Amino acid sequence: MTALSVSTSAAASLRADALVVGVAKGPKGIVPTAGTEAVNEAFEGKLAEVLTTLGATGAEGEAVKVPAPAGVKAALVLAVGLGEASEEGYGPETLRRAAGVAARTLAGVKKAALALPAESTDEIEAVALGGLLGSYSFGTYKGEGGKEPVGELVVLAPRKGSKDSKAAVERAAAIGEEMNRARDLVNTAPNDLNPKSFAAIVQAAGKEHGLKVEVLDEKALVKGGFGGLMGVGGGSANPPRLVKVAYTHPKAKASLAFVGKGITYDSGGISLKPAGHNETMKCDMAGAAAVFAAVVAAKRLGLAVNVTGWLALAENMPSGSATRPGDVLRMYGGKTVEVLNTDAEGRLVLADAIVRAGEENPDVIVDVATLTGAMVLALGTRTFGVMSNNDELRDTLHTVAGEVGEQSWPMPLPAELRKGMTESTIADLANMGERMGGGLVAGLFLKEFVAEGTDWAHLDIAGPAFHEGAPFGYTPKGGTASAVRTLLAYAERTAAAKA
Ligand code: BES
Ligand code: ZN
Ligand code: ZN
Repeated sequence: MTALSVSTSAAASLRADALVVGVAKGPKGIVPTAGTEAVNEAFEGKLAEVLTTLGATGAEGEAVKVPAPAGVKAALVLAVGLGEASEEGYGPETLRRAAGVAARTLAGVKKAALALPAESTDEIEAVALGGLLGSYSFGTYKGEGGKEPVGELVVLAPRKGSKDSKAAVERAAAIGEEMNRARDLVNTAPNDLNPKSFAAIVQAAGKEHGLKVEVLDEKALVKGGFGGLMGVGGGSANPPRLVKVAYTHPKAKASLAFVGKGITYDSGGISLKPAGHNETMKCDMAGAAAVFAAVVAAKRLGLAVNVTGWLALAENMPSGSATRPGDVLRMYGGKTVEVLNTDAEGRLVLADAIVRAGEENPDVIVDVATLTGAMVLALGTRTFGVMSNNDELRDTLHTVAGEVGEQSWPMPLPAELRKGMTESTIADLANMGERMGGGLVAGLFLKEFVAEGTDWAHLDIAGPAFHEGAPFGYTPKGGTASAVRTLLAYAERTAAAKA
């Protein structure tokens, strides 16, 4: 793993293999930003000229390497683009992305220093987090061919306020390491990550960080009446689990329940997905991974709020013991559901977990799930949908997501879409309704399982949870750790509001 530290050294005098600086795009060409001064001087004021000659424009995502001139201790200067030049600074997300590009470009390098134009502690944290996230690589299955991530990242910060800078970088390390852990879980092949092994990983982390972990195995789930989890997991040789992972703070005045969809592989079940739709379905546990990471990070940051994670883990497979389209399941809490399509399994495991979470009377329940293809069609692959039974909560989650650099959009839960799930069935509910607005129908299904008077929100991360295109900013191919920062920021906001 990449080591992260902070230093007040001058950019030119820090011993490193590479020195990263930021350049922007001005109306008349490249604009060197704060942090480039020493390098520019060593180039006799010709940094912009040199970079332009090398083809750089300062555009976002750009990374151009130049051998360091005499006077700069690092061997290499890496100029990363920040986009349009700005007098007011660049803001956390631009810096996070630029640092991510730099860290990714410098894979294989031992030590790099980041001299990006970060002034506030928020911006310093952003550089550190972007660097750590951008350095991510998943090497579990790679032999010789895999490149090592950059060994060490040093964030350069002004001497003034150096204590705050240090705290900011430590925060970034806690958040980034937990996000990278969530990415590892998503990227792990489904023959290695199943409900049982996932639960064991949570138990080990619970021991390490002092979190209370309880695991219900298949026997306990049958006994407890968890028909959703058992129904979805029934076709698999790897039985389901419900994992509770709890962080409590002695001064907490609020408690949050985070519920994660944890389908370790979604084949579709008897309603089998066609080829082309199941190759990436190891990512269907990304909601559970996000919840797990958020709870551990909340603990590492010592937030003054109680956070309980509920991971609904199952493998959706077809077999002679699998749930059939047409079967009726008796869910935890007693509601019956006719399963019309076994590929709409996420809502079934979540329903059980939401009812169980509600029994502990949290102030708010937020579930996170790679729930529907319809949400991907609606919002694309980088934006998650936010639904809620409380408009203010929905808007708050959308706002905090934006503040921490996650793209989201508020979505409605139109009452008329409920009919399709209730009138077409011999049970209380069907697990499918109208095709149009499928993402909202799924949200309405979940809403049925939220106790009266409990605030609840649903994040459908089917789009952004797993990135199939080329890496960009601090986002790698594969698992992204979508929603971790939003959950964490929401927990932090709750702690601050009640303090
Ligand atoms: N896991 C899928 C949703 C999904 C799609 C996640 C694409 C990530 C990327 C989910 O279980 C599913 O199959 N949903 C069905 C529901 C339908 C049968 C009502 C869908 O969206 O097609
Ligand atoms: Zn499915
Ligand atoms: Zn699924």
